[in-house]
Amino acid sequence: MFDEKLARKDLRRFRRKGLDRAGRGLADMLRRRDVSGRTVLEVGGGIGALQVELLRAGASRATNVELSPGYESAARELLDETALSDSVDRLFGDIVQQPELATEADAVVLNRVVCCYPDADALMTAVAERARTAIALSFPPDVWLARLVVSAGNLALRIRGNAFRAYVHPETAILAPALARGFRVDETRRAGVWRVVALVR
Ligand SMILES: C[S@@+](CC[C@H](N)C(=O)[O-])C[C@H]1O[C@@H](n2cnc3c(N)ncnc32)[C@H](O)[C@@H]1O
Repeated sequence: MFDEKLARKDLRRFRRKGLDRAGRGLADMLRRRDVSGRTVLEVGGGIGALQVELLRAGASRATNVELSPGYESAARELLDETALSDSVDRLFGDIVQQPELATEADAVVLNRVVCCYPDADALMTAVAERARTAIALSFPPDVWLARLVVSAGNLALRIRGNAFRAYVHPETAILAPALARGFRVDETRRAGVWRVVALVR
């Protein structure tokens, strides 16, 4: 699903138009909470465009944990052209299955990732255990229209023999692991079809 072809498309889009709406919302939320000098862990960061924006905003270092190696070549190209290669660690694997992959960071960010993982609780537990002060994430709202669109997309994938599935998880289930670890919701907003939430502690 997340292959080099998609990565190339993402890179072309970022060069032309910058971050997608949900990414812009997340970058804005973290900038306003002052990301200067802070470390950032991005889970499922794709080509790493959001990290580039956060590093430009003053973040000291970024780590990307990504399940798909399909993004690597485009991500390296983006880091080379932005001269940020020395500021980013790119790691491969599933943050849930390989929790040892990434250490703690000041802020953990996930753009359009929770909807790609079947177990929201396990994913957000791994995230909350690595975040020191902030978590910012985007996900589809748990409303009937989003559930309908995702179900239709999943049906099309099934017909094409593609095993990937997307999920609309209830917001309470997504946020519960962070709330249980002392985070509180600091801001919520809509970015296009996405819901964007910042949690702090
Ligand atoms: C829809 S893509 C979004 C990519 C990027 N964040 C963006 O907004 O362009 C979801 C990404 O999350 C990654 N992903 C999903 N679950 C993951 C996990 N448990 N650990 C690491 N990466 C994960 C997938 O490999 C995929 O690259």
